[in-house]
Formats: sequence, structure tokens, C-alpha cells
Amino acid sequence: MLREVALGLSKPQKELPSKYFYDHRGSELFEAITELPEYYPTRVERAMLTAEMPALLRELRPASLVELGAGSAAKTRIILDAMRDAGGARCYVPIDVSASFLNETAVRVRAEYPGLLVDPVVADFAERLPLSDQLPHPAVIAFLGSTIGNFTPIEAVRVLRRVAAAMAPGDRFLLGADLRKDLTRVLAAYNDSAGVTAQFNLNMLRVLNRELGADFNETLFRHRATYDGSLHRIEMHLVSDGAQTVCVPGAGVFDFAAGETVRTEISCKYDRPSIEHTLAAAGLRLEQWFTDPAADFALAVAVQADES
Ligand code: SAH
Ligand code: AVI
Repeated sequence: MLREVALGLSKPQKELPSKYFYDHRGSELFEAITELPEYYPTRVERAMLTAEMPALLRELRPASLVELGAGSAAKTRIILDAMRDAGGARCYVPIDVSASFLNETAVRVRAEYPGLLVDPVVADFAERLPLSDQLPHPAVIAFLGSTIGNFTPIEAVRVLRRVAAAMAPGDRFLLGADLRKDLTRVLAAYNDSAGVTAQFNLNMLRVLNRELGADFNETLFRHRATYDGSLHRIEMHLVSDGAQTVCVPGAGVFDFAAGETVRTEISCKYDRPSIEHTLAAAGLRLEQWFTDPAADFALAVAVQADES
């Protein structure tokens, strides 16, 4: 963490990895975001999973579900219900960096699905995808919520390559991705009127203060979210209110000019060609593509590229 923070704050455009939003409070703030009227992705994806999962999983009868960035697994219940109804569900492996939140999720899912083996893994899936050789197949590997958007296209390919390498013939990769659309709605989703996204963004400074003994003053930074049309992505930044100096013990002392920003997150928006391209670069082939009627969000189902 210290190395990543030192490196990120030394760049001309200061940046911090978005995974550091998610301590327990950050995970709760993200849950609050999913309830906001402006934040459409969760609602739309939930409706799509409800509509599509029963038929898809009746056909596939998966024995396992692996989920990257599971969070509260709120929408995952729709997949687990469909797996149970299809008659094959044996194992659920939620993977997340947010350790205490993940363990709470696992406890709740175990209570709700007796007989299902729930085997949580605390890991950074951008670094490794530690799956057991004993994972029952066929498996579905799910990456929901458009978390893929929080990686650059090159980083996303790296994550998906790891997914492709973990898949066996007959497995499926299920990807939820936010689609390019009218800017007003996208910008509103990241600039909510209740200010929850601002709290989520500022939470990263609390995480750094607690974990690294840094001395960020939360009251001297402001939330900003803008859209980069050429890169098709939201960028979240924290803007320094005035000139200030921040000390991160072991990493250094970092000067912020008035108005200077640190980028805390990107959220890339996709379309079908860019999803197909990303999948193909990772050794995966798009098999099915679903969107809602407004084409706000997509669910993509993929197989290993060499599977007939
Ligand atoms: N899948 C849920 C939660 C999305 S929030 C949904 O669709 O609502 C993103 C989740 O991914 C958080 O729980 C966060 O802790 C986790 N996460 C983010 N970056 C990660 C990484 N590099 N490795 C593992 N988990 C990560
Ligand atoms: C988890 N991830 C897909 C969210 C997103 O929309 O990029 C995180 C988030 N950031 C601000 N609001 C929500």
C-alpha cells in the first residue's frame, strides 16, 4: 500500500488506487450509493439479472459461482437463487479486498443458503485470482456492477486473462458493464445531490490516515467527478482547497497547489465493440449479450475463445 501510494502521489497527475475506498465504511458508503436515485447501474443490472438468470442457469446448471468484487452480494442472490432452482449449486466463492465486509457477506449468505459451501477469499484480483483446483465445475465467474470500468482497458484485459486462465471448458464468464450514454445522466450518477459519492471519495483519505499514519485533512479537499469523452470515462478527483502539504510516513511529503487534484477513480463506460475487443484480447469470446430497453447497461456472457 505504501509503495502504491508513494508512486501515485509522485506522478504529475497525482493518483491513488480506487481499491482503497473500500474499508468497512467505504463498502457501506458504496451500498448507500447503490440506493441513490441518480445511481442507475445497480437498479438496471438487478432487473436484468432477474430477467435473464433463470433461463441461462437452467441450461448451464452451474455447480459453482465465483464472484470478483462481491461487496454485499446483494444482486448475487438472484444468481444463487437461479442456481439453486436449476439444481446444481454447491459452492460460492466471493473475492474482495474489503476483508471485514466480505466476511459479513459470507456469514449472511451461509445463513440464507444452507447446504451451499461459501468460501470467501480476501484478494486483490488485479494481482492474483487464487482459485482452488477443487472448484466444482461447471462454474460461473461473475464480475458485476461495472467494476471492470474501474480499470483502464489494459488493466481490464490483464484481469480478464486471469479469469480466462481459471476457466474450464463449459464454464461461463458473466460480466456487467455500464454503457456509454447521455452525459447528463452519467454525471448525475457521480455527483449525487445527497453528497454520498463525495463522502465515498473523501473516505479514501481516512483510509490512508488510518492505515499509513498520513495527515490528510479531509476538510481541505473537495469531491469532483467529470467525464472524459475521448476516453469514455468518469474521473473522480479530490481537489485541494488551497496550497497544502501532506505527510505520508515512509513515503514522503507531498505538496498540493491550490486547485491541484488527486485522481481516485476512473469508471470506464463501454459499448458492445469495446467489450468484445476486451474479451477477445483476454482470450474470451462473447456468447450472449443482453441490454435493458434503454441500453443503459449490458450483461455479457463469454466462454474461452478456443471453446467450440
Ligand atoms: N459487485 C458489487 C460491489 C461493487 S463495488 C455490486 O455490483 O454492487 C466494488 C467491489 O469490488 C467492492 O466490494 C470492492 O471492495 C471490490 N474491489 C475493488 N477493487 C478490487 C480489487 N482490486 N480486488 C478485489 N476486490 C476489489
Ligand atoms: C464499483 N464501481 C463500479 C463504482 C462505479 O460506478 O465506478 C464505484 C463508484 N464510484 C462512484 N460511485 C460509484
